[in-house]
Amino acid sequence: MKKITLNFILNEEPVSLEIDENARLLDVIRDVAGLTGTKEGCGVGECGACTVILEGEAVDSCIVLAASVEGKHVTTVEGLAKNGKLDPVQQAVLDHHALQCGFCTPGFLMSAKALLDKKPNPTRDEIKMAIAGNLCRCTGYQQLVEAFEDAAKEYQKG
Ligand code: FES
Ligand code: FES
Repeated sequence: MKKITLNFILNEEPVSLEIDENARLLDVIRDVAGLTGTKEGCGVGECGACTVILEGEAVDSCIVLAASVEGKHVTTVEGLAKNGKLDPVQQAVLDHHALQCGFCTPGFLMSAKALLDKKPNPTRDEIKMAIAGNLCRCTGYQQLVEAFEDAAKEYQKG
């Protein structure tokens, strides 16, 4: 497999990584950068477990060619907490007990953050739409929606 050097901004830090030219972004994040918070569920763009934020948009990293993020900003779940303080989406999921096994949680968090960064005052339907591509087999969705409604109040404070 031919190797290439990939330069991009990962969680606000410039990185330069040797990768297989055909690598998926998910594999580069987990296996090359060593950030294992991003999960692989289906591997075909259907479950949302691998969701990261690419240039402000939530994307399924299992179906993104890593080489395509050259020079771009990628945020993973490891990039959410700042200065030891959880992002409001993380805190709200904890407060609402909106997880069980937690496998899907990073993906939900990234989808919710992408929405709230763009629209801090979403309607309930907009929250549901934002997480429509994320599947959870444990908890159900009600607590997650309520958690992200609470997180929105924190985003509105700025
Ligand atoms: S692992 Fe990427 S969408 Fe399921
Ligand atoms: S908490 Fe287990 S899959 Fe969502």
